[in-house]
Amino acid sequence: MGKRKLMNLLLLGAISLPSAGMLIPYATFFAPPGTGSAGGGIVAKDALGNDVIADEWLKTHGPGDRTLTQGLKGDPTYLVVENDKTLATYGINAVCTHLGCVVPWNTAENKFICPCHGSQYNNQGRVVRGPAPLSLALAHADIDDGKVVFVPWVETDFRTGEDPWWA
Ligand code: FES
Repeated sequence: MGKRKLMNLLLLGAISLPSAGMLIPYATFFAPPGTGSAGGGIVAKDALGNDVIADEWLKTHGPGDRTLTQGLKGDPTYLVVENDKTLATYGINAVCTHLGCVVPWNTAENKFICPCHGSQYNNQGRVVRGPAPLSLALAHADIDDGKVVFVPWVETDFRTGEDPWWA
């Protein structure tokens, strides 16, 4: 009997040890996302790589401002300051939908104008002149704990009334 008990113990160990080991990655898979993200979003970073704090940003960026930050997937994304000095609830992905140049904001023209082949987008990133085939992609710009957080935009594109081509 002593020998059988020992064998049972060994068998139990052989089954439970690997199972316990398998539980660890299983548990971490369901753990909440780490710092820097919230609900599939990512904290916007300024040109120096620092988190964008909404209040601080608004002290140095006036109405109508469109300044590049680092957004989802590392894409350059414009943070927009509305005329009432609040942050827009959307960010504009600066990657041209023609061949991928980063599109600068032109304050004088009140448009985004691509230097590569001349595509133009209005001040919300809606395409107004080709060869770019599509409007610039959107991301939600939420404020979480004082920081600007970009969250994927999967709803209707409010500029065109169409499904988002980038989602
Ligand atoms: Fe912007 Fe061609 S890449 S117009």
